[in-house]
Amino acid sequence: MARWRSLTRLAAAAFAAVAVGGVTLAAPASAAPENTDVTPFVVGGTRAAQGEFPFMVRLSMGCGGALYSPRLVLTAAHCVGRTGSNTSITATLGVVDLQSTSGRIQVRSNYVYRAPGYNGSGDDWALIRLASPVTGLSTLPIATSTAYDSGTFTVAGWGAAREGGAQQRYLLKASVPFVSDSVCNGPSSYDGDVIAAEEICAGPLSGGTDTCQGDSGGPMFRQGGSGLVQVGIVSWGNGCARPNYPGVYTQVSYFSSAIISAAASLGG
Ligand code: ARG
Repeated sequence: MARWRSLTRLAAAAFAAVAVGGVTLAAPASAAPENTDVTPFVVGGTRAAQGEFPFMVRLSMGCGGALYSPRLVLTAAHCVGRTGSNTSITATLGVVDLQSTSGRIQVRSNYVYRAPGYNGSGDDWALIRLASPVTGLSTLPIATSTAYDSGTFTVAGWGAAREGGAQQRYLLKASVPFVSDSVCNGPSSYDGDVIAAEEICAGPLSGGTDTCQGDSGGPMFRQGGSGLVQVGIVSWGNGCARPNYPGVYTQVSYFSSAIISAAASLGG
């Protein structure tokens, strides 16, 4: 089953490359031989209300992100290139409708910080620094302990609404239940491919609700002590919303110290 991970990662990379080329196209989901009859499970989301998740960011390479601070967007390592100056990314914020010009903020990047040691497996987080600070939008605090790494989470994004489907104009949201590492890594699921310490799974085992291609880098969050707290970053999965294959998310609490230091090194 090790190939699930690599296949999905490759699909994500291909997707990012295509999006950078200016074409809006959802990557085909990972296609393993035994899954050529891809069932188009709708990723059971509903539309988010304008202003409901003010920290949501759409990135021009076709990923999501979350506003960590006025100048920094937390996303997935697999959405970006290497660490260094980078003015090629446009972040869109402030709207659920990407085509609405009223209230829409578009800002360029000026630097990318990719998790050190990222090699396509694990360490799937990155910070993008914006050329100018965004004002008037609230940020999403990250989980700094495992206290909120269970329960029911919310995910949101402009990615595909079904496996193999198109990117979305309107922000979609869904609720997904926590899935333990032992179940997620079990023989009828990812069978050891999940890095238990650094990844957290979520999604109904019956399928039908999940993040999908183009949601990568976006946040998974829940109610914390005071308001919402980010517990995950959309990372990978076997297709989308398939039974027994929950979404796999970067476990933010595990990387919180590293994210906080990196953010400080980027100027906050
Ligand atoms: N890697 C995908 C992307 O680049 C996200 C996949 C999430 N898949 C899932 N089944 N939850 O957008």
